[in-house]
Amino acid sequence: MTLIVRNIGRLVTCSPALGEGPLGVIVGGALVAEGERITWVGRERELVAPAGADELDARGRAVLPGLVECHTHLLFAGDRSEEFARRLRGDSYEPGGIHTTVRATREAAEAELFRLAEERLSRCREFGVTTVEVKTGYGLDAASEARLLDLILRLPGTVPTLLAAHIVPAEFESDPEGYVDLVCREIIPEAKGRAAFCDAWCEAGGGFTVEQCRRVLQTGRLAGLRLKLHAEQLSHLGGAALAAELGATSADHLEHATAEDARALSRSGTVAVLMPGASMMTRTPYAPARLLAEHGVPIALSTDCNPGTSYSENLQLAVALGCALLGLAPEEALLGVTANAARAVGLEARKGRLEPGWDCDLVVLDGRSEVDLAYHYGVNLAAQVVSGGRLLGSSSS
Ligand code: NIG
Ligand code: FE
Repeated sequence: MTLIVRNIGRLVTCSPALGEGPLGVIVGGALVAEGERITWVGRERELVAPAGADELDARGRAVLPGLVECHTHLLFAGDRSEEFARRLRGDSYEPGGIHTTVRATREAAEAELFRLAEERLSRCREFGVTTVEVKTGYGLDAASEARLLDLILRLPGTVPTLLAAHIVPAEFESDPEGYVDLVCREIIPEAKGRAAFCDAWCEAGGGFTVEQCRRVLQTGRLAGLRLKLHAEQLSHLGGAALAAELGATSADHLEHATAEDARALSRSGTVAVLMPGASMMTRTPYAPARLLAEHGVPIALSTDCNPGTSYSENLQLAVALGCALLGLAPEEALLGVTANAARAVGLEARKGRLEPGWDCDLVVLDGRSEVDLAYHYGVNLAAQVVSGGRLLGSSSS
């Protein structure tokens, strides 16, 4: 199947070499895909249209790469709206709330968990998100973590991350090392060849120490998984330095990161995944995005979609918040949900750009400029979404 997208006011390739500025914008652009892959992008007046192609008329609007959501905890059951309401009345966010979700997720039937995740993923797609990283982490025993990983592997368009070291489960409260042993001896070996990434939460008050995270991540790496780390979210513990030391693909959160952390992450080429929505909804400090950017750390943005700190599937909103609350320029924020987010999930050679050879995942924006994602905020600007060369929501998809 061949697809031609015509009449694109601004084709935002996110490949600087292909057009103007840091986003590689082609004004008056067109795009051709054969099957799942892009085969041509350029100015429409230079297009040699292949015969028999399906055509999509962008009607002068902007076209962007399908958005990449690089950090979610969307596979869970249960409801924590009461906990959220208590916070709005004055309580502060406590990692312990995760236990509520663990209980509900362990108890939930497989079909119910799958339905909940599918519903959330389809909401992501409506916002123009065509790739979604999904973490385990609400199982916290060998069987439950394996079950969550099985479910993620059945969800199309996802990148599976093992987050068995999310929090110390209640039954190991007095023996966190015992749980780290279980993670390293049983849960990670089970995930070998199945999860793409190994992640951990480096945090006091229920999370894991730097030494425990080092053990988990080194074991993950030996099992062939790439590395991510929840670092410096609620306090400064040394997770960012650890992520840099281990050459992790991404260090996530970083609200309490320092200039020294920024230098280390820049040297290791680790992507900083920032989630302004989580800070906003927990009324905690924002990540030092400008400091990270000034040190040359690649920045990605995410919703952090999870039931505790940030329950939203709207990655477009993360772009607006990245600009308004973290001080990013619109082009920085946009690269944060496209090319840099693809790099954060190890898919930089397939996703996050509109370039020949990349997957044909794209969004026709309900707006003339990509800046609208930050400017016209809080609404859904995805007019049409193409994933793997197919228009979603049409009869041919
Ligand atoms: O990314 N940092 C750790 N985990 C989540 C919160 C999970 C929850 O509260 O359920 C986060 O913010
Ligand atoms: Fe998270």
